[in-house]
Amino acid sequence: MSVTHTLSPITEFVNRRQQLLAQLPSNSVAIIPAGKEVTRSNDTEYLFCQNKNFYYLTGFNEPDALLVLVKASSEQGSVDQSILFCRDKDPLQEVWHGKRIGPSVAKQDYQFSACFTVQKFEKELPELLNDKDSVYVCQGENEALEQQILQCFKQLKAASRQGKKSPKALVDCTAFIHEMRLIKSSAELTIMRQANVISGQAHQRAMAKTHDGKFEYQIEAELLHEFARHGARFPAYNSIVAGGDNANILHYTENSDVLTNGDLLLIDAGAELAGYAADITRTFPVSGKFSEPQKTLYELVLLSQNKAIEAVKPNNTLGELNTITNKILTEGLYELGILQGDLPSLLAQNACKQYFIHGLGHWLGLDVHDVGDYAIDENRKQSRAFEPGMVMTIEPGIYIPLNDESVDEKWRGIAIRIEDNILVTETGYENLTVNSPKTVSDIETLMANART
Ligand code: GLY
Ligand code: MN
Ligand code: MN
Repeated sequence: MSVTHTLSPITEFVNRRQQLLAQLPSNSVAIIPAGKEVTRSNDTEYLFCQNKNFYYLTGFNEPDALLVLVKASSEQGSVDQSILFCRDKDPLQEVWHGKRIGPSVAKQDYQFSACFTVQKFEKELPELLNDKDSVYVCQGENEALEQQILQCFKQLKAASRQGKKSPKALVDCTAFIHEMRLIKSSAELTIMRQANVISGQAHQRAMAKTHDGKFEYQIEAELLHEFARHGARFPAYNSIVAGGDNANILHYTENSDVLTNGDLLLIDAGAELAGYAADITRTFPVSGKFSEPQKTLYELVLLSQNKAIEAVKPNNTLGELNTITNKILTEGLYELGILQGDLPSLLAQNACKQYFIHGLGHWLGLDVHDVGDYAIDENRKQSRAFEPGMVMTIEPGIYIPLNDESVDEKWRGIAIRIEDNILVTETGYENLTVNSPKTVSDIETLMANART
């Protein structure tokens, strides 16, 4: 039975631990906890989702574990260590709740320097921290662990006459890990390409199965079915299946309404594969044929998306991409009479933001809104330069609520978002979203073929 859920070679995880250790000062310790199971109600739990920092460094997919990285001191013979504390084997628990890897198999299969049961963590902690200069954690992520470490500092101080010495500082190592996660390795990109292809298959299936009279949740079921058929059991986030005006609610996940001919259907859904997210949005007509107003707005959003994607290359920025998109959308909405006034001032104010009410994109990886800084200056105003290996979404939209009486009736209730996943390469970009139809003619052809 596979319990790892990883598609990356174990050397990937070993290298990441080494890379993090290389950034820690000598004679320090970093402690990264696994996720915990979360109660849904009474004695049932949500399906487990591993802490992504812990997963990134271990590939180990069980709850109630801790990774301890020990950075060697300058003393002769001192070496870096990578230690896992995990749940012990337990035949009774395993009969009820599933297999556990256990410390001895974990040490071997995941290539740790040492593994202990998680029950030993409390007892081992003073020894691990004694005489170290500093202790690193992802601050703010696990208050109980931070308290336990500070308590251990006190215990060591109180034992100074027995020769014990407390570390001087508890320091944040979040940025080290997040910056590593921001640049994807080729093994990670292989998984992300697969997650995108599986998600594309699901979007195709959703388009083919959509009909007047179906419920949004029935289309959600088609997405989940297609994800799982191809090895991605979980969605990366709750799928948004929003017919008509429901798509004006950005994070609509009720998915409970009936679909109606004449409306658009916006689907924002991506598979999670081996922990990695795809994040794709497609908008298409329930009937299979765009109306003229829907088509006009759709092609405007698509143009703005394509132009932003074409501008992705090393050293460009999300700020620059925003400038491109905002200009196209503002000019387009002005030409259609949806924005009124003086074009230069509309452009100066980025007037499209009245209808394009969210950001253009975000980093993507183990988390759907992935980690890594967006700004590089202290005032957080200047967006950082793209580097090869970064993956982001590009997802412009136009949202016109049904009750917006400031625009002509024909535009009301139209909400469109188009979202692709883009890798920065050495020379430009690679669009990972290769098989989710997105031109009007590709969508209409697929839907017409599905109906014959
Ligand atoms: N699926 C959430 C987003 O597009 O950011
Ligand atoms: Mn997104
Ligand atoms: Mn999305």
